[in-house]
Amino acid sequence: MKPILLLLLCATALIIPSLSGATSSYPTVPGTVDTSDFSITGEDKTLIPNRREVYGDGRIFDISHRYTTDMPAAESDEGIGQFLWLTKSMKNGSLGNMSEMKLPTHTGTHVDAPGHFFDHYYDAGFDVDTLDLEVLNGPGLLVDVPRDKNITAEVMKSLNIPKGVRRVLFRTLNTDRRLMFKKEFDASYVGFMRDGAKWLVENTDIKLVGIDYLSVAAYDDLSPAHLEFLEGREIILVESLKLDDIQPGIYSIHCLPLRLLGAEGSPIRCILIK
Ligand SMILES: *[C@@H]1O[C@H](CO)[C@@H](O)[C@H](O)[C@H]1NC(C)=O
Ligand SMILES: *[C@@H]1O[C@H](CO)[C@@H](O)[C@H](O)[C@H]1NC(C)=O
Ligand SMILES: *[C@@H]1O[C@H](CO)[C@@H](O)[C@H](O)[C@H]1NC(C)=O
Repeated sequence: MKPILLLLLCATALIIPSLSGATSSYPTVPGTVDTSDFSITGEDKTLIPNRREVYGDGRIFDISHRYTTDMPAAESDEGIGQFLWLTKSMKNGSLGNMSEMKLPTHTGTHVDAPGHFFDHYYDAGFDVDTLDLEVLNGPGLLVDVPRDKNITAEVMKSLNIPKGVRRVLFRTLNTDRRLMFKKEFDASYVGFMRDGAKWLVENTDIKLVGIDYLSVAAYDDLSPAHLEFLEGREIILVESLKLDDIQPGIYSIHCLPLRLLGAEGSPIRCILIK
């Protein structure tokens, strides 16, 4: 980073009001570094970063999860573990601090490309760099699904999502159970059953499917439900969204994956704008 930009950033940090890092969305995440780890310790206690879930008095909601060592990883009890390493540090004489990161592409809030479950799509290059930004950005619905079932055809029917709706974020029991805030992977999460996925593909105009745990597909139908969604290469799956404390309804959805050439998944930053 250019020194001038660094200076600007420091100056901005100085004028940001001091706020506690704990929020209603991240009250007790184990392993979440609280502000004291990030603030510059020493005399100057005013240098405390402002961590937010909601911006502009409720106009913008951040629906991506913060990456932490203790966020869940598929089929593991250990969480994702260390994913950041400070490889160059100012305390050790480097010009700047510089970290490296390493993490599976399907970690935290992330997107699936068709190559995730179709080998011939993978080989043909249907990676995250080919995903349609028009699908990933635009008006859409946040809906609550019944808490006592996985998402079957019957459940899909009962939601009565109008034709023409192209983007839907499905909030489920996973949010109530705060599964994304638990380190241990929980295979009993709610997701789509094969017939629910098939019903969506055949009877709706939905092209962006979002859900609140690591997979859109219920564990018992992991492969079949993904296959239904991804076969047509039109539907984009966004997983592990943070949908706590947001009113159901219509929002402008904005999701941007990284342009990882050859990757069948990517971390994605998603926000909702009222
Ligand atoms: C820079 O690296 C040092 C460790 O050498 C660390 O204590 C400090 O927090 C880092 N600063 C930033 C801005 O990350
Ligand atoms: C700085 O250097 C010391 C000694 O080589 C090493 O033990 C330490 O891990 C380094 N710290 C960082 C943040 O690079
Ligand atoms: C959803 O399916 C999973 C298995 O994939 C099961 O463990 C869980 O109990 C089901 N959830 C509900 C609410 O029926």
